[in-house]
Amino acid sequence: MSDKIKTLHDKIAEAQLGGGQARIDSQHKKGKLTARERLSLLLDEGSFEEIGMFVTHRASEFGLEREKYLGDGVVTGYGTIGGRLVYVFSQDFTVFGGSLSETHAEKICKIMDLAMKNGAPVIGLNDSGGARIQEGVVSLGGYADIFYRNTLASGVIPQFSAIMGPCAGGAVYSPAITDFILMVENTSYMFVTGPNVVKTVTHEEVTSEELGGASAHSTKSGVTHFSCANEIECINNIKQLLSYVPQNCEEVTPLLPYEQKDETRTVLNSIVPNNSNQPYDIREVIDGTIDEGSFFEVHKNFAENIVVGFARLAGRSIGIVANQPAFLAGVLDINSSIKAARFVRFCDSFNIPLLVFEDVPGFLPGTDQEWNAIITNGAKLLYAFCEATVPRVTVITRKAYGGAYDVMNSKHIGADLNYAWPTAEIAVMGAKGAAEIIFKNEISKAENPDAKLKEKELDYIEHFANPYRAAERGFIDEVILPENTRIKLIKAFKMLENKVATLPRKKHGNIPL
Ligand code: HXC
Repeated sequence: MSDKIKTLHDKIAEAQLGGGQARIDSQHKKGKLTARERLSLLLDEGSFEEIGMFVTHRASEFGLEREKYLGDGVVTGYGTIGGRLVYVFSQDFTVFGGSLSETHAEKICKIMDLAMKNGAPVIGLNDSGGARIQEGVVSLGGYADIFYRNTLASGVIPQFSAIMGPCAGGAVYSPAITDFILMVENTSYMFVTGPNVVKTVTHEEVTSEELGGASAHSTKSGVTHFSCANEIECINNIKQLLSYVPQNCEEVTPLLPYEQKDETRTVLNSIVPNNSNQPYDIREVIDGTIDEGSFFEVHKNFAENIVVGFARLAGRSIGIVANQPAFLAGVLDINSSIKAARFVRFCDSFNIPLLVFEDVPGFLPGTDQEWNAIITNGAKLLYAFCEATVPRVTVITRKAYGGAYDVMNSKHIGADLNYAWPTAEIAVMGAKGAAEIIFKNEISKAENPDAKLKEKELDYIEHFANPYRAAERGFIDEVILPENTRIKLIKAFKMLENKVATLPRKKHGNIPL
């Protein structure tokens, strides 16, 4: 072997060692994998091609001129997952705590630019102490260069962010702009200001985990879409997520081979209880309709009154939005509106057809909701559905009351088809409330007001607590037996697969943010 070839081998070995064996051991001791171990689990074997392995920082202050590591704290490149091209960066905590220098940022920008030109997803594995403190403003500039690219890439290529260690300060904003965030329980956290600053400013005592761990962000803030038990689960979730989405906004959704069989699902006939105030789990309806075991729920622990996620129907990737009667009676509130709106926007950006299961008693009343802007936030979901041009189908399983009837993908706001089960109740409001208002005088004058109220309530139910009034108007295309839901939907989405719908020419709309 010539000296020059040996030099190259030595350099590659040095780069692969990152910040050194002691720091790798310390990473393992914390229950974390290294940047390269994560990539080897994520990508198809032998597919990774590294870019920028020999890049080093060019800073010279605070002793940095004496401490340089090949790769400068981030492993970048491209590879395949299930044969599909993806661009990746994986921050190396063993080098300056994975902190972001000017050159570290340039490496990430380089692969983002390639991803944009070649129309493939970007997956970021984040494990970083934030801006490299010794570099000052150039590292802040580096972050901004990434934020800018994240924004330009939004809606063009899918972008996923896995948080596998610290993610502090402005560093959280790159993941926040991407489409999906996955966090690892107990070893990752995200916050704009950490516990020390919080204590100084607000006198609150809080740990990193409490403030910005996976649990806080998957249940309270909704910042993260997935809370993963460990890094392996996190990486598997990334792969699964990718399997439902196309490479870019010009491509159609992945379609797995599927042969039509008997598509009748009698199990669906007995899910909705006779008593319309009794809860049931909408996931049973979802599971009973889609290809077996294909539901991949997103944002599972946040705003549980709405369920969103990906699934397959006859092999076709679809996005599902479903009210959840088992939680807060499936009411729409601020968090559920935001959660569903963001999901609808993602699906529409990437040509993923939308299926809605509707059982909603309306919007949640109260000062808390009104003062925190249920008007603006509810309008996000309304706007998101109105603007979506992908194939859109709704199945009303039970309640479709009030404004929520309009919002939940009604035909009036551009849905292609609306089906209703015989158990559907489509009205301005629940029968009791309606009777109390419109028959107020009659009830108060009655000899037995309670009996009168009951009589009027039944009268209202007779009139509106069914799908037929809406079907007479054509607002409902067909009242279907629950057991036929799957076959109806398979045919509907097949019929809609070449749908073309365009929006009026504009620079961009002004979604109520
Ligand atoms: C340079 C850093 C660093 C940073 C960590 N290191 N963060 N070097 N810049 N931001 C180095 C440490 O000096 C140490 O080097 C090694 O990484 C590991 O760090 P430890 O502290 O030993 O590890 P740990 O105890 O696990 O704590 C990790 C940590 C902590 C929680 C991330 O290091 C930390 O608080 N770092 C600072 C976080 C921060 O405030 N960043 C700036 C945020 S503001 P040695 O040589 O000892 O191994 C920001 C602005 C962006 O990011 C704005 C964009 C708009």
